[in-house]
Amino acid sequence: MNIKISDTEKQQTILITYYTRTGNTEKFADQIKQLVGGDLFRIEEVDKYPPSYQDVLKVSKVEIQNQYKPPIRRSVENIDQYDIIFVGTPNWYGTIAPPVLTFLSIHDLTNKTIIPFATHGGGGEQRCLSDISKNSSQSKVLDGIVLYGSQAESFNNKIFEWLKELQIFDNTLI
Ligand SMILES: Cc1cc2nc3c(=O)[nH]c(=O)nc-3n(C[C@H](O)[C@H](O)[C@H](O)COP(=O)(O)O)c2cc1C
Repeated sequence: MNIKISDTEKQQTILITYYTRTGNTEKFADQIKQLVGGDLFRIEEVDKYPPSYQDVLKVSKVEIQNQYKPPIRRSVENIDQYDIIFVGTPNWYGTIAPPVLTFLSIHDLTNKTIIPFATHGGGGEQRCLSDISKNSSQSKVLDGIVLYGSQAESFNNKIFEWLKELQIFDNTLI
């Protein structure tokens, strides 16, 4: 199913898209929205991963090994209206969660500015940012950052400093 993200009077140019299983990456996305505005889009898989951590480890390991792109519930129909797209993922086995791979593969991101971000559980960045970049080859990719999962929970100065460095505020690249 396709949806229109928003029909606000003001033209929105920023989309903040993310996958989250336990909420950390979503909190990170919320903070980006508070600082730069834009529309939020949560990527959701059609066939839910199993609730137990051990089981999701098993299922996702096979998916990642096979570079499987699980179907996602919704796509962004009006992707054309966005110039800047933040793409957020949890670190799963050192790389991006499979539904994020699906998102990147089904949307035409030609000439978009992509800004990757991620949360991790101790392993750090690994290939999270570079794999978003690798799968956005038609886009300009800016420097992303990776936060430890629980660091994304409350206002984090690292996010502010990062966005300041990228010079992205008030829906404009300045
Ligand atoms: C299937 C799976 C694999 C994971 N693999 C890693 C990993 O390789 N390295 C790491 O640092 N954290 C790993 N984690 C932990 C998550 O990256 C971390 O908890 C993240 O903040 C979760 O984000 P979320 O709450 O948005 O889902 C893994 C979590 C899951 C569920």
